[in-house]
Amino acid sequence: MALLPSDLSRETILSRLTARLIGRDLEVLPEIGSTNDAVMAAGQQGKAEGFAVLADRQRTGRGRLGRPWVSVAGVGIYTSVLLRPQLAPHQTTLLTLTAGLAVAEAIRVVAGVRPELKWPNDVLLQNRKVAGILTEMASLGPQVSHVSVGVGINVHHGSEDFPPEMRVAATSIRLATGRSVDRGTLVATVYDTLDRWYAIFCSGDRTRILQAARAQTATLGRDVTVACGADRWQGEALDLDADGALLVRAEDGTVCRVIADDVSIRSGLRP
Ligand code: BTN
Repeated sequence: MALLPSDLSRETILSRLTARLIGRDLEVLPEIGSTNDAVMAAGQQGKAEGFAVLADRQRTGRGRLGRPWVSVAGVGIYTSVLLRPQLAPHQTTLLTLTAGLAVAEAIRVVAGVRPELKWPNDVLLQNRKVAGILTEMASLGPQVSHVSVGVGINVHHGSEDFPPEMRVAATSIRLATGRSVDRGTLVATVYDTLDRWYAIFCSGDRTRILQAARAQTATLGRDVTVACGADRWQGEALDLDADGALLVRAEDGTVCRVIADDVSIRSGLRP
């Protein structure tokens, strides 16, 4: 049976935590299928919001659009947090952006670098993906009943930890900065920053979230390819709307609201 490494000690993480809600009820495991599955099940069973699951390794970690998430032991942060926001299902994109702001802030505080966001759920360092957010939800009629906000951060990964086809697009804090940050400190900081950004989200202050997201989103002002199943089209990413959807001007001039599709930034220098 796998042992929990000392840098992910529950007691140490709790001793560093200043969050009021997020991570106060914390389960830390050496190994799990997916922390998002554990948190969705806990939500179903009535656990209170703020509950978090953290694992040293995931057997079946996953990302958006069913993609696998590299979840090797000893090198990453794989955690999910249970939230119960007052929300309609179509508004979860704004929550994903909020979590992205929290993760970017935690990386900035702990690693001393300034990540960017790639809409809707990626955190980038040097134009490569260092972290991702997977928001999954269950609804009761028109209202969200619970959400799992899953956060994966590549911390100590070397390029050999990523499959060859991912090596150009993925990075880790160590690869991008040469620094080895403490995973326990980073995850406690993620819970703290998410606690603060989630309080802003619940206060209804969308303007603050959208302003911060606009300022940090590398996607805006760029030429993008939007993929929806087999269908692909190109345009310019203009802005975020009030729900956090991406507004993209297609080549025929129409402005489309993109909610759940896959958006990639086309190469080329920023204007
Ligand atoms: C993405 O970039 O597509 C999202 C990646 C999210 C990965 C995290 S790791 C913790 C949680 N459990 C999962 O299975 N996925 C998320």
